[in-house]
Amino acid sequence: MSKSDKVLIFDTTLRDGEQAPGASMNQDEKLEIAFALERLGVDIIEAGFPVISDGDFASVKNVARNIKNSSVCGLARSIKKDIDAAHEALKVAKRPRIHVFLATSKIHLEHKLKKTEDEILKMAVDAVKYARDRVEDVEFSPEDASRSEKKFLYQILESVIDAGATTVNIPDTVGYSVPAEYGQLILDIKNNVPNINKAIISVHCHDDLGVAVANSLAAVKNGARQVECTVNGIGERAGNASMEEVVMAIRTRSDFYGCSTGINTKEIYKTSRLVSKLTGFVVPPNKAIVGANAFRHESGIHQDGILKERSTYEIIRGEDVGFTGTGLVLGKHSGRHAFKVRLKSLGMELPDDQVDKAFERFKALADKKKDVFDEDLIAIIEDEVKTVKPTWTLVDLITKSGMNVTPEVKLILESNGKTYEKVSSGDGPVEACYRAIDSIVNVKGELLDYSIQSVTRGKDALGEVTIKAKIQDKIVISHGASTDIIVASAKAYLNAINKILI
Ligand code: KIV
Ligand code: ZN
Repeated sequence: MSKSDKVLIFDTTLRDGEQAPGASMNQDEKLEIAFALERLGVDIIEAGFPVISDGDFASVKNVARNIKNSSVCGLARSIKKDIDAAHEALKVAKRPRIHVFLATSKIHLEHKLKKTEDEILKMAVDAVKYARDRVEDVEFSPEDASRSEKKFLYQILESVIDAGATTVNIPDTVGYSVPAEYGQLILDIKNNVPNINKAIISVHCHDDLGVAVANSLAAVKNGARQVECTVNGIGERAGNASMEEVVMAIRTRSDFYGCSTGINTKEIYKTSRLVSKLTGFVVPPNKAIVGANAFRHESGIHQDGILKERSTYEIIRGEDVGFTGTGLVLGKHSGRHAFKVRLKSLGMELPDDQVDKAFERFKALADKKKDVFDEDLIAIIEDEVKTVKPTWTLVDLITKSGMNVTPEVKLILESNGKTYEKVSSGDGPVEACYRAIDSIVNVKGELLDYSIQSVTRGKDALGEVTIKAKIQDKIVISHGASTDIIVASAKAYLNAINKILI
């Protein structure tokens, strides 16, 4: 395939993805995701909107300083203050891109911006020139492009390209467009913007009607060569086009699309888990490409077909996206060496002291649980291995609950070599447990969200609890895993407290 057949992947998990209600991440978490995106091979990482807050500015700068192989992009409205902030945050980047946007639809012009088309045209051109004087790589987005008058859209695209825009993005900001129409819009732009060959056409679709990926693919079919997307499809409202779905559709159906991306697909599953862990957004089991059921075959007819010839019922192999499957990997007789080798094959190389801790935990699990799967190992590592020593650890937990008794918990915690004990009651055992923790640690936490998922199947499966809590005015997302769901709940809450205290 020639260069023109490459579709650039512009990942906006750290910007539009973070706009998903409740998805905010701290600076370290954003950098961790940026490194994962770099390993994945995304072409451009949109790291944030620098003018919006000091925190956003600092995290764009942090990503810009550390990422070497992907371009790093900062968003800006079409005003100097925003462009200056983006430029300042991106100064340290090896490959900086400034992304300026300005709404072009009648609805936005009349009600939001209260400006005429001529005024908008001038603002856009001035902004692109201003950005282009500072960096080589400038993207322009006519916000709400899919609901804009086509004539005005062509005019503004032509003008910003003349002003130096290297990429022109066509956002379906409110997720209003449908595939045939959106594909046609891209074709119309190609046919009606005389200088369009001087820029890359990008697409940015929201999922309000559930067709963000379909719209993006229709656009690719009609000549778009950059897709803006997010890991797990997180984003404003119903989210953005999901990166993994766009990438795997282009790869699996290269016969139809005739193009490719530069994504190392084997990193997809790991990156999806990371984003889910750090945002607290659980991936539904039936989610395409990264859902727990995406590569499981339940029907006997399908299983029989797969055993005879894999391609009968499988269009993507789990290994292609780094999904290691649910094969039985280790048992209670497995040694430390086998355990370490298995972790390595799952992409988790840890220092020896952490391997020891995780191995102890694995042994305890293998005693309780008949089969230990890869997913169990991943959950143990995510739950157990901490980069910073926790302030509080759970020593013991005894619960009493039932239909006709008041739930009660006896809890023992350890901190700095001392143990603390407390008995508490509540409406349910989780509440009783959280009250006991609050009382020992002397904090007042508020539970904003709580979800529980089984890591694998079976009654003896590990339960993984994800919570979002407000502690000392800070919102934190954390996890805990155990075969006992009250213990998993206690661990998740203690992890949240430890994060805040650290
Ligand atoms: O959805 C949208 O229009 C955006 C722009 C800033 C590109 O996110
Ligand atoms: Zn958007």
